[in-house]
Order: sequence, then structure tokens, then C-alpha cells
Amino acid sequence: MKTVTINKLGQFLDQDVELKGWVYNRRSVGKIWFLILRDGTGLLQCVVVDGESDADTFNLEQHLNQEDSVFVTGKVKKEPRAVGGYELGVKKISVVNHTTDEYPISKKDHGTDFLMSNRHLWLRSKRQNAIMRIRHQIIKAIRDYFDNNDFILIDSPIFTGNAVEGTTTLFELDYFEKQAYLTQSGQLYQEAGAMAFGKTYCFGPVFRAEKSKTRRHLTEFWMVEPEIAYCDLEQNMDWMEGLVVYIIDEILKRCISELNDLDRDISNLATMASPFPRITYDEAAEILKNNGVDFKYGKDLGGKDETIISNQFNKPVMIHRWPADTKAFYMKRDGNNNDLALGVDMIAPEGYGEIIGGGQREDNLDILIERIRHHDLPLKPFEWYLDLRKYGSVPHSGFGLGLERAVAWVCGTKHIRETIPFPRTMTRLEP
Ligand code: 4AD
Ligand code: MG
Repeated sequence: MKTVTINKLGQFLDQDVELKGWVYNRRSVGKIWFLILRDGTGLLQCVVVDGESDADTFNLEQHLNQEDSVFVTGKVKKEPRAVGGYELGVKKISVVNHTTDEYPISKKDHGTDFLMSNRHLWLRSKRQNAIMRIRHQIIKAIRDYFDNNDFILIDSPIFTGNAVEGTTTLFELDYFEKQAYLTQSGQLYQEAGAMAFGKTYCFGPVFRAEKSKTRRHLTEFWMVEPEIAYCDLEQNMDWMEGLVVYIIDEILKRCISELNDLDRDISNLATMASPFPRITYDEAAEILKNNGVDFKYGKDLGGKDETIISNQFNKPVMIHRWPADTKAFYMKRDGNNNDLALGVDMIAPEGYGEIIGGGQREDNLDILIERIRHHDLPLKPFEWYLDLRKYGSVPHSGFGLGLERAVAWVCGTKHIRETIPFPRTMTRLEP
């Protein structure tokens, strides 16, 4: 007999098959009982009728617990009223593993903290399954977008000797008696990559010792960071926009059932065609002023500010040309106003906040040295980086998209901690 998975059942209509999975739920109605089977690819209603299955199987009902692992054989039938549109007429159920302990996550409401402490089990739930599948598809879309556009994947290291995004969020470690850090961003290495290959990207975990407990911050998160040689700020924004349009297109093509499981309002995602609005920081400050915010010009935008600005648009908005003091040392200044950095943030709609940060890089050796000094960073660990300005320096740009922020927006999940399999925050290291 063929062993099949729930997502492929349609190909086996009226055939006898075997499934391998776990007990999601069960209920009985007189001489019939129903097992809702979960196999990681979907849910399936399995119908056990006295006389149609063997006696041992029929009598199993009282002895199965939620999440017991089982083999089930039976005939695939069409059933439009069942989840997935099919059901299984059961012939035999064999138990692989049975426990008498009650499964910790029941149908009743649990607090998020309890669920987070049981994350290793919570991942089995329908909602978490949908989020992780969407995360998987977003990762695939990101890789496809860059691969299809001739970018080369150049992995950046995780152990590093230099700060990229300021010194306040560095995780320090002892590296054979030398000071090292967990990387905050792979960008500097992508700049080396872009000078070697033209267009590169890295996609991996990055680390920030964020002392904030907001719903948008993790201490370990995933970032994709493309870097492009001979690319200015405007062209950089084209790449940012292209990537996000592609991600949303792919998700709307491949993940409708997952979005439905999450009750995500798909019409809010369906409007993500180019072009996205591009406004300057000055214009953003004006929007805040017009909305009654007491905003101090020159400051970074807070989460609430971002939401007010994004509410003006039903698409992601790109804010560019920031006061230089709000941005990192490597940002190039605007030729028309030396107080402004050629940085750009993309703010997602519906209050999901900044999903991308990027900009054009300073390509002049002497200015860059001065900026490193101005930011009180030691020059020594940047010597290799300065070589990139010494030998064949060109205008170049890049950006970083925070994967979990993007997943949170697409899924419509309030808190970013549900968008990564095992979240790391200030207060959580386990499971
Ligand atoms: O804006 P950030 O700090 O930019 C950089 O790291 C650049 N070096 C990237 C580059 O140009 N190559 O971070 C980029 C994105 C943010 O827009 C946000 O989406 C995400 O990373 N991010 C976080 N996500 C989760 N938790 C945190 N603590 C995050 N900090 C930033
Ligand atoms: Mg940023």
C-alpha cells in the first residue's frame, strides 16, 4: 500500500493508502468516531465505522490521546464538508507512541508566555504551522528574487571584530583572549562582495543586544542583505521595491490557504504593485506635524511615528535622506546637503514598522576614516574595509530586510516572536 501525505490526497481518490501522523483531535457520534489526523502537511478527517475497520481499531477511541503518533490506513473519499475536501474511511489504526500524560496544549485558551515556554510543542498547532510555512515561502521568494537577478550569495561571517550598527547593541565574546562580537549585520562583508562580483547578498542570523521589549525586537533575527556596485540611492530603492513586490506576489500565489488559516485580510496585501511612495525625512516630519505630533526635527522616528506615516499610504513607504546623526558611520552624505545621509528605510503598512534599512555607502577613503573617528570606533578592525575605498572604490548601495518583520506584516501577527521558530529575546533563551 502506498504511504501518502495529506496535502497530496487528491491524487489517490478511491484508493487504499497509508498515512503517518499524530492525533490532532477525536470525537464520537454513536457507532462512528472521527479521528482528526495531523501529518505536518495538513489535517484529515478519518472516519471509523464499527464493522468497516477491525475491532481493535474501533475500540481504540478511548485509548488515544492528543498527539499520540499513529499509522492509519483506509480509503480516500471526497467530502466537501471536511477540512481539505477529503476524508479517510478507516480500515486500521496502529499506535506508534502513546502517552497517558495529558498534552500540555489543549483547546482551551493559554497565555502567550505559557505557549512560548512550550514553543517546541506549540509549533504543531495550525496557526504556528501556517506562519512557519509562510516564513518558508518568503525565504524562498527572497532567494529566488536575488538569484533570478544574477546576485551571488556570499555568506558573511557571524564572529566579527567590528561594530556595524553602533556599539550599544553588541554581544561581546571572548575569542581566544581577543575581543570579538556576534555580527549585527553582514553588510561590510557584502561591500567586499559587491566589489568582487558586482551584486551579492547574504542571508543569515544577526544579533543585537536589544534591551527593548517591544513587539518588533528580537536579539537574534534573520536578515537578507544585498549590496550592489555602481548603484545610487534611487536605484537602491528600485531594488527594495522590486524585492517586496516579488515577495507579496509569490505569497499571494502560494500561501492563500495559510493566510486564510490566519484570518489575514488578503485585500490589504493585494495592492502591493510598484511604485511605492518615496518621501524625504523632511516630508515625513511634515506629515507628523500635520497630524498633531510634537516631533523634534532631527530625531529618529519612533514606532508610533512610523505608524502615523504609514497610515497615509496603503503601500510600504520609503523614507530617504535622514539627518546624518540618526544613521550609521558608513552612510554617504547628500551632495546637496551635507547634514543629510543618503539612507532609506521602508515602512510597512498597517503599523508593522520598519522592515528595511539601507542606503548609499560613503565611497571616499578620507571621509570614511573621518566618520569612523567621529563615531568613536577604533580604526584597526576597519583596515580591511578601508581597502575597499583604496582599491577601485565605486558608488555603491545596499539594504537589509528583517525577515521576521516581513513575516509579521505578511501574516498579520501582532508580535514578532511568533514569526521565528525559536525566538530569542531579552527574557527568553529557552526552548
Ligand atoms: O536598519 P538596520 O539596523 O540596518 C542594517 O543593519 C544595515 N547594515 C543593513 C544594510 O544596509 N545591509 O536593520 C535592518 C532591518 C530593519 O529594517 C528591521 O527590519 C530589522 O533589520 N531589524 C530587526 N528585526 C528584529 N529585531 C531587531 N532587534 C531588529 N533590528 C533591526
Ligand atoms: Mg534601521
